[in-house]
Amino acid sequence: MTVHDPAAPLASAGGTPVRDTYLPIAIPWIGEREKQLVLETLDRGWITTGRNAQELGRRVAELGGAKHGIAVNSATGALHLALVALGVGRGDEVITSTYTFVACVNVIEHVGATPVLVDVEPDTLCMDPRAVEAAITPRTRAILTVDYAGHPCDYGALLPLAERHRLPVIEDAAHALGATWQGRPVGSFATITAFSFYATKNLTTGEGGAALTQDDALAERLGLLSLHGMNRDAWKRYTAQGSWYYEVTVPGYKYNLSDVLAAIGLGQLERFDASQRRRAELVALYHRRLAEILEVRVPVTRPGVTHAWHLYPVALDLDRLTIDRARFIEELRAENIGTSVHFIPIHLHPHFASSLAIAPGRFPVAEDAYRRAVTLPLFPQMTDRDVEDVCAAVAKVAAHFRR
Ligand SMILES: Cc1ncc(COP(=O)(O)O)c(C=O)c1O
Repeated sequence: MTVHDPAAPLASAGGTPVRDTYLPIAIPWIGEREKQLVLETLDRGWITTGRNAQELGRRVAELGGAKHGIAVNSATGALHLALVALGVGRGDEVITSTYTFVACVNVIEHVGATPVLVDVEPDTLCMDPRAVEAAITPRTRAILTVDYAGHPCDYGALLPLAERHRLPVIEDAAHALGATWQGRPVGSFATITAFSFYATKNLTTGEGGAALTQDDALAERLGLLSLHGMNRDAWKRYTAQGSWYYEVTVPGYKYNLSDVLAAIGLGQLERFDASQRRRAELVALYHRRLAEILEVRVPVTRPGVTHAWHLYPVALDLDRLTIDRARFIEELRAENIGTSVHFIPIHLHPHFASSLAIAPGRFPVAEDAYRRAVTLPLFPQMTDRDVEDVCAAVAKVAAHFRR
């Protein structure tokens, strides 16, 4: 094993990078099984939504402990459909976290409702239930929770709160497939749960997602809305047993998932447990190595939670460093380590700062987290050596810019 010297010259100053090759933040793990299933699907002659998509929805629902799962073409689509299916519209308010991806807030605006942003808790960076309670008004129609990085929110506080106010919970579990809370799988307790199968997610179809629910009527509505509002999808019309007739009962959307992409997801599902176990192993190694570096704080897992470990976001201790986060990232890039930032708080984006009239400083926990945030590479094909390289690069940059 190479022993890295943290005092070696920085790559940005002409020194040798910690690695010869660039390590990206995530690479999809595509196996032979996915390729085989895709080819079988192409040969079968049915490449739009059909039995693969249905099967994927059903299997993801099983994994998430839900009665129904509807495969769609993105988590964004699933969140949009959730709002429409629950009747959220003009004049309504939906409470969500400012520390999330823009999709959550865009879809609230798309249905004509107002996003009401709240701050997050400092340890998990999930929405603060006390802030949610304080944000509830007579116009609140739903709470949209975000399981940041794959850590479920504090549902011990949020579910009773939602129940007291008779509010549905839409759970953005884009990061949290495979997570559990109090022994219950994510997907089993919210009114509607949205998963993402985007290229870098724990389970991918390239682009895709799913909406889960325990409620028969909601499931029916989500299915209808996902394909134009037609009461018979192509599968029911064009197969030998099908009929040409259909009715539109509600103006729907075009969020269905193709069977070609669903085939990738079905292959991924066969390796999902192994993939999650490997993520957890890599995280344990990161935790051990980074514990020695005082300039970096590692993410926490609360008791009663199984983390899905979609992301591994660390927080820089800026008081111990002479550089800011942006410079830290540049230095890591020079050392051939890819990173990202999750997230730029929603209220700091020009559009939302203006449409929601929120000035910087309003959500101090999220803003502080943002200033310190660096997401390190995490994907199941990473080797232990890759993790050692990342930690060596972090140690090297920290050592050079120690206050
Ligand atoms: C928290 C969160 N919600 C929603 C999404 C949107 O997912 P999709 O790309 O499947 O629409 C993402 C995507 O990265 C996300 O990080």
